[in-house]
Amino acid sequence: MSINYKDYIADVPDFPEKGVIFRDISPLMENGAAYACATDEIVTYAKSKGAEMICGPEARGFIVGCPVAYKLGVGFAPARKKGKLPRETVSVNYDLEYGQAALYMHEDAVKPGQKVLVVDDLMATGGTIAATIELVEKLGGIVVGTAFLIELKDLHGREKIKDYDMFTLMQY
Ligand code: PRP
Ligand code: HPA
Repeated sequence: MSINYKDYIADVPDFPEKGVIFRDISPLMENGAAYACATDEIVTYAKSKGAEMICGPEARGFIVGCPVAYKLGVGFAPARKKGKLPRETVSVNYDLEYGQAALYMHEDAVKPGQKVLVVDDLMATGGTIAATIELVEKLGGIVVGTAFLIELKDLHGREKIKDYDMFTLMQY
């Protein structure tokens, strides 16, 4: 099935602040056929990279990554915000557009040498994906690629992860 994914993205002006056009993925997720097509495209990419595990950051990285993991028959390792994971963690601090944040993974979430595809819904500045990659590598995982529904090209996030292969369904 050929699909124009941008038909399923809501462009919301002035959210979360004036001057920003927010690319809302909700309509895509709420349409079974579009969600399945997007998932299948990432699954095909994941297979081509030999991914043995999918990892994605809270919260929208779960929406994209979990169905990919299910379809591939591999596990999903979540990267979470502060205070959410109950066991021993590793963490990475990173810069947001305004301020700082941190992501955490359980220290046994990825096994040394495991081939990991890192996914998220959207790349803006690239800070979130770079932090997630760093977490996977701290655990000894091998990041075989990255995949997104959307890349916001003007923010040049790709430059933060230029050593990694990247798959995107839509660019703005
Ligand atoms: C959004 C988006 C990405 C990240 C992209 O997540 O889902 O994870 O920002 O921005 P960056 O490339 O500049 O790091 P957000 O932090 O809003 O969290 P959410 O998924 O929980 O809504
Ligand atoms: N849409 C959704 N999430 C985002 C955006 C956006 O335009 N920018 C940063 N995170």
